This record gives sequence, structure tokens and C-alpha cells, in this order.
Amino acid sequence: MEFVRLLLVFLHLLGMGMLVAMIMLQARAGKDAPVNKGWLHGAALQLLTGVALVGIDPLVDSVKYDHIKIGVKLLVVVAIAAVVAINVNKPKAPSWLLPTAASLVVLNVGIAVFWT
Ligand code: HEM
Repeated sequence: MEFVRLLLVFLHLLGMGMLVAMIMLQARAGKDAPVNKGWLHGAALQLLTGVALVGIDPLVDSVKYDHIKIGVKLLVVVAIAAVVAINVNKPKAPSWLLPTAASLVVLNVGIAVFWT
């Protein structure tokens, strides 16, 4: 079971990397570009791996998660998915989308690391 947990953490960190890459790709695409669908894939990966990590928590001896922290991270990832999903079919991403989604990604990394 420890291997499964480590595998989920591994995928969770790759998902974070993907969202950070999205910040750079969206910035490089310029202000007239549409929203990159990769945001949704990264957010979905974070949601699935995060929920799975919490789900296997009772089966793993040494790990105990703070459920308020997890709830806040869950809300933040849903907010990322929501701001992207409502704009994904528009020809041009609104100007506020990149700073908003980027701030939410950085917020969740900060919560993951500093909320102990
Ligand atoms: C943008 C979305 C997210 C980002 C960038 C993110 C980032 C991270 C990072 C960097 C860690 C490692 C922290 C450390 O080891 O000190 C982590 C761990 C964790 N995250 Fe997330 N996370 C996100 C969403 C979520 C969601 C939605 C959930 C749950 C619903 C979640 C649950 C967890 C759990 C349970 C761990 C602990 C893993 C362990 O060490 O056993 N995360 N997250």
C-alpha cells in the first residue's frame, strides 16, 4: 500500500508540474489566444490523485491528513477547473484568466507546503 501512496504522490507532483507548465504556455500563447485545455487535464489529475491519497489514508499506517486543509485545496482546484471550463470554448481567453488560474495554482502549492 505504501507503494500505491508513493505512486499517487508521484502523479500528484507531476500534475502540479503540468499546471505550472500551463501558466507558462498560456502566457507564451499571448493575450488573443484561447484557453489551453491542458489546464483541465492538470486540474483533473490533481483532483483524482488528491482524493485517492485521502481515500487510502486509513489503509496507510503513518499518514494522517488535515481535513480542513484538504477541503480548502479541493475548493481551490475546483475554482481552477471552473474558471477554465466556463471559458474553454471561447475564441479568446479573458485577460483575467491567466493571473487568476496562476494565483490559484500557486496558492495550492503554498497550502500544500506551509499548512502543516
Ligand atoms: C492545484 C492543485 C494542487 C496542487 C498544486 C497540489 C500540490 C501539492 C504538493 C506540492 C504536495 C506535496 C506537499 C508536501 O509533500 O509537503 C501535495 C500533497 C498532497 N496533496 Fe495536493 N495539490 C493540489 C490539489 C490537491 C487536492 C484537490 C487534494 C485533495 C482533494 C490534494 C491532496 C493532497 C494530499 C493528501 C497530499 C499529501 C501527499 C503525501 O505526502 O502523502 N491536493 N499537493
